[in-house]
Amino acid sequence: MPKLGNRLDVISESVTLKLNSLVKKMKASGEDVINLTAGEPDFLVHPSLNEKIKEALSAGKSKYTPVPGETEVREAIALKTNQQQLDLKKPWKAENVIVSNGGKHSLYQVFQAILNPGDEVVMMSPYWLSYPEMVKLGEGTPVIVETKPSDQFVATPEALEAALSPRTKAVILNSPSNPSGAVYTKSQFKQLAAVLERFPDVWVISDEIYDQIVFNDEGFCSFLSAVPEFQERTITVNGMSKSCAMTGWRVGWTVGPVELIGALTRLQGQSTSGINALAQAATLAGLALPQEYFSQLKNTYQKRRDLMLECLEKSGKIERVVPQGAFYAFVGIQSVLGSQETAVDFAENLLKEQKVAVVPGDPFGAPHFVRLSFATDEGSIQEGCRRIVSYMENKKNS
Ligand SMILES: Cc1ncc(COP(=O)(O)O)c(C=O)c1O
Repeated sequence: MPKLGNRLDVISESVTLKLNSLVKKMKASGEDVINLTAGEPDFLVHPSLNEKIKEALSAGKSKYTPVPGETEVREAIALKTNQQQLDLKKPWKAENVIVSNGGKHSLYQVFQAILNPGDEVVMMSPYWLSYPEMVKLGEGTPVIVETKPSDQFVATPEALEAALSPRTKAVILNSPSNPSGAVYTKSQFKQLAAVLERFPDVWVISDEIYDQIVFNDEGFCSFLSAVPEFQERTITVNGMSKSCAMTGWRVGWTVGPVELIGALTRLQGQSTSGINALAQAATLAGLALPQEYFSQLKNTYQKRRDLMLECLEKSGKIERVVPQGAFYAFVGIQSVLGSQETAVDFAENLLKEQKVAVVPGDPFGAPHFVRLSFATDEGSIQEGCRRIVSYMENKKNS
């Protein structure tokens, strides 16, 4: 075979996808595996989304779509974003929106559009594992801000300030966070913005994909609702995967200044083109669902979260932080790790010995933690946690 190019040498394989395929294989061969790795809701889409797709099929919607998305869909996304960012000087319009093949694709394109080689992108650890890889693909350099479990994994303004430099091109915020479940309040965002005011050439990329899954009393706060004066330098990314269980239909979007959307449209026009017409029809239905629908789902997740934390309490060796959003518990396992071990070893042994799959914290920048998903049924949560507790209690440090 002729040689491959070097561009992809900088990135690693997605650990979560690799683990998931291993679990599927074990299950297929009849093993009783409890899977706590899911990064997607376990329920089906609301029937109205299927209906909209059927309508689109009957209407013969099988042709190319406009590169940045159907105008009606872009308008609906602008409206949703404006409702979450109430005090904007210039409310967003369709021209401020581009629809892409999932939030991951949206973010990938953003880094391609804004980065020059060597530009630094600041992100909070634990971070979503694709951020550093996507930054590297854009020839940028990830710069990590550490956060602490004792601060609920929320970054302090001092830590952010220490990470900023004249080379900083962007800061990624992700609230609610995958994997930590951290949720930033309005005042915490304002404090970070006070630091960023001294760096006017730095973009803020706010990944708000878990906006509908927030458990704290204050509720979800979009970055631009806390700091509307940052409108010209903020890129909001969101999508249908987590709120509407529409992971497989691949719809995400980017909202920002018109010049940015123009650049992203050029890139998308020469790569994927406009996204699937049927998925856009479903998006319209998803965006029209009443808030009550999302609140009910949120309540289901909250119940499962509480159940998971209660089950894990049975081992004093597990460090628990109460997640305020998303559907993951990010728990510390340092007390049972040997000096040479990391969470990858832990996850592999747990899977072999107790047949429970969890995601190790290493690729999230936290090698002493594991991520447990509660986007699964209560029985699996109870049995999975029972096995984890038993494994922890019996494990001898090597
Ligand atoms: C923090 C975060 N951002 C973005 C995404 C992208 O989701 P999708 O590409 O399915 O829209 C995910 C998915 O796991 C995520 O966890």
